[in-house]
Amino acid sequence: MKILIVGGTNFIGPSVVRQLIAMGHEVSVFHRGKTTINLQPDVHEILGVVYRRRHRSHLLEMKSKFRQLSPQVVVDMIVYNEQDALTLTNTFEGITQRVVVISSMDVYRAYDVLWGKESDVVPVPLTEDASLRQQLYPYQEMPSRLIAVPIDYEKILVERVVMASNLPGTIIRLPMVYGSRDVRHRLYSYLQRMDDKRPAIVLEDTIEDAILSKFR
Ligand SMILES: NC(=O)c1ccc[n+]([C@@H]2O[C@H](COP(=O)([O-])OP(=O)(O)OC[C@H]3O[C@@H](n4cnc5c(N)ncnc54)[C@H](OP(=O)(O)O)[C@@H]3O)[C@@H](O)[C@H]2O)c1
Repeated sequence: MKILIVGGTNFIGPSVVRQLIAMGHEVSVFHRGKTTINLQPDVHEILGVVYRRRHRSHLLEMKSKFRQLSPQVVVDMIVYNEQDALTLTNTFEGITQRVVVISSMDVYRAYDVLWGKESDVVPVPLTEDASLRQQLYPYQEMPSRLIAVPIDYEKILVERVVMASNLPGTIIRLPMVYGSRDVRHRLYSYLQRMDDKRPAIVLEDTIEDAILSKFR
């Protein structure tokens, strides 16, 4: 199958590319060329434009190139807000047969319970039908240095746009991911202590303390 990946050259993307190639798919990667990585020789690379501010209008501008490529599936690794999702669906309607969008576990109401924004404890394990957060824009009040996402980040709105579009869509809600290319090292303090074979790992009182402690 012919698959186009939007993003795909930084943290999680390269693993997705590798896996798809191993499964025998024909993979193209679209990015701006700011991130450099040795892509496998059989991966086709399409470069967009580097703007001063983060936006993705070059997707629409490159529509004819994407039409020429005519991927059966587009996997978008970097849809963060409602506008990103609209740009995705407007670009690829009539070009591809399906869009796959990477969402996050932060859409669930349990995420706000974790951050202390909601008090009713949610039964676990969560299913994909578990209730969603009631407040939008989870990172709006967080200091921007803690997050590498736009202030209007909201995967709930992303999912709504994708599922309401005429294009068949698939949403993948990832949990917190770690790995060798993760620059944020959010799980480092736990993993390091496990590697050290400590008999006990003392956890911070709240997730906020746990995250803030990495930036002190
Ligand atoms: N990490 C986690 O724990 C976690 C948890 C849940 C969900 N997620 C989701 O996973 C996804 C992140 O994937 P990732 O970690 O691989 O992303 P990433 O490391 O931030 O990589 C971003 C990729 O997108 C490209 N890019 C950035 N801006 C672009 C633009 N305007 N136009 C075209 N390409 C652009 C970058 O290449 P260039 O710089 O060369 O353009 C790079 O290939 C996100 O949707 C995130 O919400 C992550």
